[in-house]
Amino acid sequence: MVDRLQRPVRDLRISVTDRCNFRCRYCMPQEVFGPGFAFLPRAELLSFEEITRIARAFARHGVTKLRLTGGEPLLRRDLPDLIRMLVAIEGIVDVALTTNGSLLAARAAELAAAGLHRVSVSLDALDDPTFAAMNGVSVKVARVLAGIDAAAAAGLAPVKVNMVVQRGVNEHALLPMAACFRERGHTLRFIEYMDVGSTNAWQLEEVVPAAEIRDRIHARWPLEPVDAAYPGEVAARYRYRDGAGEIGLITSVTQPFCGSCSRARLSADGRLYTCLFTAVGHDLRGPLRAGVDDDELDAQISRIWRARTDRYSEQRASGQGHHAKVEMSYIGG
Ligand code: GTP
Ligand code: 5AD
Ligand code: SF4
Ligand code: SF4
Repeated sequence: MVDRLQRPVRDLRISVTDRCNFRCRYCMPQEVFGPGFAFLPRAELLSFEEITRIARAFARHGVTKLRLTGGEPLLRRDLPDLIRMLVAIEGIVDVALTTNGSLLAARAAELAAAGLHRVSVSLDALDDPTFAAMNGVSVKVARVLAGIDAAAAAGLAPVKVNMVVQRGVNEHALLPMAACFRERGHTLRFIEYMDVGSTNAWQLEEVVPAAEIRDRIHARWPLEPVDAAYPGEVAARYRYRDGAGEIGLITSVTQPFCGSCSRARLSADGRLYTCLFTAVGHDLRGPLRAGVDDDELDAQISRIWRARTDRYSEQRASGQGHHAKVEMSYIGG
């Protein structure tokens, strides 16, 4: 099954909640996501059985990778139950989790025991003032580092650390972050600040181009490029010439990678999004709750995917990128 641009679906990213215990300014600014914000009520969320049914349907269409996201997925206390269900699906070879790491230290062992393969942890700085200003809730760096250590100790490896880089906000943290994760042996990935959603007041001037990030790291610890681990990999990989592991650069703004985008996203309330930057999702929860059988579910997914033409990041580069978008906390990263 391929879309209109001949892209197959390989990766399903599943948001299990639209809530988060952080208020990162680039994702859920406090002014918008304050105490009065209407998150999804419980009854609107997909049950684990419903998520698993949809994941199975995607596996039949060629998906091999699943990623659990949020909001913050560890806010769902029974997440290990879902992981056990997902790793048992035929054809699924990789089940990963994207988390802010704040609740990971206490949970890593049970996640690994449930069969989770690996985690990506977000961390934007190593000094508390910068990190507190960015996460909006004053969570300390040490707490996230403890989560990263616990994940590595539990065998959720390789641990990847995601850093969103913003001009004038955390660029000073580039070299300290690289030094820290070289030593620990984890892959640090630098993400260009993106214009996801409609609430973060994104400005192009706040983006630090990945080439500049690479050059700054390279000047301190020489780098060389590494081939992609799989077709359509999001991050461009580089290894340290001295053998201290590798880094990744996620160049969504300066070098879009829509041409090989094989990712589908499922919101916590069961809508299917075929691009991170789209405004409209396709409701799968309605049909599920109305009792569709597997053949009809497969056919619906197939219709949606075959009609897909999304290539937002490439269009943004050519100046066609202005329209309403869903929030990243709702459909996951
Ligand atoms: P691996 O499976 O480990 O290669 O991870 P990944 O790179 O697929 O997943 P991860 O969630 O760690 O992605 C890192 C970040 O890259 C995300 O949080 C997003 O910020 C960004 N990203 C991932 N997929 C897309 C995409 O399809 N489009 C755009 N524009 N950005 C993406
Ligand atoms: N630009 C780039 N990355 C973002 N993330 C959240 N919002 C943005 C944005 N506007 C990242 C988080 C996390 C992942 C889920 O997505 O920091 O690493
Ligand atoms: Fe929460 Fe992640 Fe968004 Fe930060 S980026 S507010 S941790 S969902
Ligand atoms: Fe895929 Fe949309 Fe990101 Fe392009 S902008 S890589 S189509 S999710």
